[in-house]
Amino acid sequence: EEEQVRKITCCAPINIAIIKYWGKLCEVENLPLNSSFSITLNYHDLCTTTTVTTAPSYVKDQVYVNDLWQDINENPRLKVCFEEMRRLARKQAISENAAAKELMSCSKKIHVQSVNNFPTKAGLASSASGYAALTFALGQLLGVKGDLSGVARRGSGSACRSMCGGFVEWLKSEESKNSTAKQFVDETHWPELRVFILVVSSKQKSFGSTVGMQRSVETSALLKHRIENIVPHRIKVLKQAVLEKDFCLFAEICMKESNQLHAICMDTFPPLRYLNNVSEKIMNFVYSYNERCGSTRVAYTFDAGPNAFLFTLAPFAEDLANQIYQVFPPSKDCTDTFFKTTEEFSFPN
Ligand code: PMV
Repeated sequence: EEEQVRKITCCAPINIAIIKYWGKLCEVENLPLNSSFSITLNYHDLCTTTTVTTAPSYVKDQVYVNDLWQDINENPRLKVCFEEMRRLARKQAISENAAAKELMSCSKKIHVQSVNNFPTKAGLASSASGYAALTFALGQLLGVKGDLSGVARRGSGSACRSMCGGFVEWLKSEESKNSTAKQFVDETHWPELRVFILVVSSKQKSFGSTVGMQRSVETSALLKHRIENIVPHRIKVLKQAVLEKDFCLFAEICMKESNQLHAICMDTFPPLRYLNNVSEKIMNFVYSYNERCGSTRVAYTFDAGPNAFLFTLAPFAEDLANQIYQVFPPSKDCTDTFFKTTEEFSFPN
């Protein structure tokens, strides 16, 4: 019987953390010190599209990201995703009393082509959508059933949250099997919510999150305080705000979380600086815009980079967009297509 070529294509979106993940309990397993909470964006706006293929002629695994060859052996995160998916496939095949042929197919060589429709490594969570797309695609190819967020997590912590749509919590746990992502409410829950992404810099970030987190865990007393005394309560309040669609409360938590992440970065020794002058200006713009409106209409959040994610509600989106364009006119080196993407950006339609 002739072996066939099989090909699967998947698309995974980025997610934006409202309650931030910062600090690892275990670096190898990517287990977080605190639970986090995020919103997964639309499928087609900022996403990674990944195609996985098996063919009889393949002699080894190959991975290309944006047409660049990746050395799997030099990338432990990538390697562990392949290993984990094959291990799960084998385990499932054995438990289902699969024929020898099916067991064999778990070790077939796989080629991966992965493409981002936005700047890679610009602090726009490309590793989140990337590992979510890879994990999901491998799962489809190998026929692995069940929750695979734990595998995506091994690739990049925040990637596990992109395995679910809508509003998502990633649970902390000392046990790998329990540190998974769970949907809190789905993408239809809050249709008025909108997000703008202000690309302050599309340069690669200077300090990777793994090294940054490690330094914070070792040196920041504020991080310890946050994990013990702040995060558990904040997640509770945020969930309530989301359930009640209370934008004012949502916005307050969102901005306080971002501020605390960057306060911890400054409390880290030597300090980590992810924000720049433009990021600071955007924060000031948000506070004065809300003050001018006499109510909270916009909230910012920043991850480990200078780019801003702004949340607002549909009725305010147009005015906000106009104001943003006035205060922060798009620079010449911004590519049109990317601006189109961010301009048309909305959640969750
Ligand atoms: O998934 P990582 O290892 O790239 O870490 C992401 C860390 C933050 O983006 C700053 C926060 C988060 O929860 O996504």
